Amino acid sequence: MVEKTAVVVGARGMIGRYTVNSLEQQNDWNIIAVSRKKPEYATRAEHISVDLEDPVDAERKLGGLSHVTHVFYSALNGSIAAENVAGNLELVRNSIGVLAKASNKLERVVLGQGGKYYGCHLGPHRTPSLETDPRHLPPNFYYAQQDFVVEAQRGQNWTYALVRPEAVVGNVSGIPLNVAGQIAAYALICKHLEVPFHYPGPDAAFKAYNKFTDAHLLGRFLHWVATAPVAANQAYNVTGDSGLRFSNIWPSFTRYFGVRPGEVMPFSLVSHMADKEDVWQDIVRKYDLRKTKLSDFGDWVFGDWILGRTWDTILEDTKRIKAGFTEVMDSEESFISTFNEMRAERLIP
Ligand SMILES: NC(=O)c1ccc[n+]([C@@H]2O[C@H](COP(=O)([O-])OP(=O)(O)OC[C@H]3O[C@@H](n4cnc5c(N)ncnc54)[C@H](OP(=O)(O)O)[C@@H]3O)[C@@H](O)[C@H]2O)c1
Repeated sequence: MVEKTAVVVGARGMIGRYTVNSLEQQNDWNIIAVSRKKPEYATRAEHISVDLEDPVDAERKLGGLSHVTHVFYSALNGSIAAENVAGNLELVRNSIGVLAKASNKLERVVLGQGGKYYGCHLGPHRTPSLETDPRHLPPNFYYAQQDFVVEAQRGQNWTYALVRPEAVVGNVSGIPLNVAGQIAAYALICKHLEVPFHYPGPDAAFKAYNKFTDAHLLGRFLHWVATAPVAANQAYNVTGDSGLRFSNIWPSFTRYFGVRPGEVMPFSLVSHMADKEDVWQDIVRKYDLRKTKLSDFGDWVFGDWILGRTWDTILEDTKRIKAGFTEVMDSEESFISTFNEMRAERLIP
């Protein structure tokens, strides 16, 4: 029997897809997927198309949902810019704000955040990063969104949970922050043009220490955090394993895609991918792939950033493990299984 009703805000996105997927594994969830466009993946979730930048549209479509028990928020306005406070706060106000007023059955709101909470987009910062670390000098849209949720919860019966993953390794096309998509598309273009698969960032970035978050593990964590009593009004980091350096894993990517090994050779993916749409279309035709554009594999600004960071980005996972979510996932396995998922969906050969 269905007991709980979840609204997944941003359901077409990277985190949204795996939230829906995780809830679908259970049989006691009624799932409402919210985004402007319909998710491309198969799902039993009911889709409500809403433009959350339009408060009237949001109120009309979400204001009557009086039976919602859980809200999972992972919408995103724009791309990596943490400074985009106004745009991202608007999406929270017009989803969580509206749903919290609409439903007196609300139990928990799960707000998706990320490593940028600790300043990993700015440069070297305190690592390993702990949930209790102080905020950096704003602006940062995670702070504004969190403050809105904490204020909205004051005096209410529902609770919230704040979830901080690192770069999410999963398979969604047509979204900006897609680390596996960027690496796969870049590797396949190198292979097609018969050039070596150079690491396109500086040597310090090749050797910097990073963590990643497997999208399936994150989906299961989001289910746990939404339902575990211990998680009420708590923040948690969530990554897969102890982390790695790109220098550890690049040879494995080289083997997977069967491309000529390269060196460390910094250059901008934004500028070098700008003229590669025709190359991508040749690849799509050659292997009879699903019709995609190169931009469906992510925002090259994100690619330059994630492969160009010369500092460590380490989220400490001890808090979530001690609280009871003990699952781990090897980062290399996470990338390889994601590439396999992309293959199975005919996104890559
Ligand atoms: N991806 C990562 O590696 C990663 C890592 C750590 C943290 N995070 C954080 O997690 C959060 C979600 O990231 P994500 O990568 O999952 O985002 P995403 O893939 O870009 O998905 C964003 C979702 O928001 C929806 N959306 C955007 N504008 C909307 C609007 N005006 N009205 C309704 N829906 C709208 C999009 O669907 P439509 O376009 O169809 O509306 C999509 O479903 C962000 O805070 C991000 O910083 C992401």
